[in-house]
Amino acid sequence: MRARIIVSTLLLATTPFAHAEATLDVGERLTACATCHGQRGEGVQGAEYSPHLAGKPAGYLFEQLRGFREGRRVSTSMTWYVRFADDAFLHRIADYYAALPPRTRSADAGASQLTDERRSKAQALVERGDATRGVLACNACHGANLAGLEPGIPALLGLPIDYVIAQFGAWREGIRHGAPPDCMRDIAERIPAEDIRAVAAYLSQQSNIDGLRPAPAGSFVPPRTCGSLPHAQEAK
Ligand code: HEC
Ligand code: HEC
Repeated sequence: MRARIIVSTLLLATTPFAHAEATLDVGERLTACATCHGQRGEGVQGAEYSPHLAGKPAGYLFEQLRGFREGRRVSTSMTWYVRFADDAFLHRIADYYAALPPRTRSADAGASQLTDERRSKAQALVERGDATRGVLACNACHGANLAGLEPGIPALLGLPIDYVIAQFGAWREGIRHGAPPDCMRDIAERIPAEDIRAVAAYLSQQSNIDGLRPAPAGSFVPPRTCGSLPHAQEAK
């Protein structure tokens, strides 16, 4: 038994999941992920491109893992991890992180380039949107407290600044795709780069200290249909 565990640990270190044996608990198999996503999926201070995973909706996480495998999202590190994993294993990863207590790394006090004026602008976008550009309020979909909505909308609290800026860039450049209608791509194209930076700094300065979970499915209705939502539901 001990030998089998050592063998599968070694396999995990050198090959993607499809080859790892089923002898290990899923949490143990995910130790490699902690370097970038934290021991308990809370994110890592200083890893500005890697988001937290803990407590995000399982439908959302599954959809993202599948997206890396199928090229709807591009990331060298992530693609390598999931390229041979089957849907059943991706569900197990998604369920594992979704069940962890929602936590984010602490609020980023260093992202200080936010003058009062830009902070108000960011807060207005989050809470009211920008009618002149046809941008809906972020919290209309991500929740009044920005903790997300089951099964497909993730929390925005405490995402690292560079990660958010990079995701908006990826949507605008067509590197990250949701199923059509792709709500986030549409939003990303309507917001000027300087406002994206302000919103990203604003979000990174929040933290989920109260451990808020995503709102239950159906507890409020987003103002627009996004393709990734029914998709995520099907996947559950
Ligand atoms: C070398 C660093 C690194 C490692 C190790 C790593 N990741 Fe990631 N992960 C990233 C980065 C960077 C992103 C964001 C990619 C992008 O720009 O879209 C990401 C994104 C994700 C996302 C999408 C999250 C979201 O909110 O959209 C999931 C899910 C994920 N990783 C799971 C895992 C799992 C499971 C493992 C271990 C098997 C793992 N990661 C290992 C760096 C890493
Ligand atoms: C109409 C609903 C809707 C609105 C409004 C909306 N979002 Fe989203 N957002 C989504 C959905 C759905 C996802 C899941 C990813 C996908 O579908 O591609 C998402 C994902 C995200 C992510 C990815 C999080 C991660 O962990 O990778 C970020 C960042 C984000 N949204 C930021 C924003 C910001 C900032 C605003 C306001 C300017 C906003 N969203 C407004 C629906 C919305």
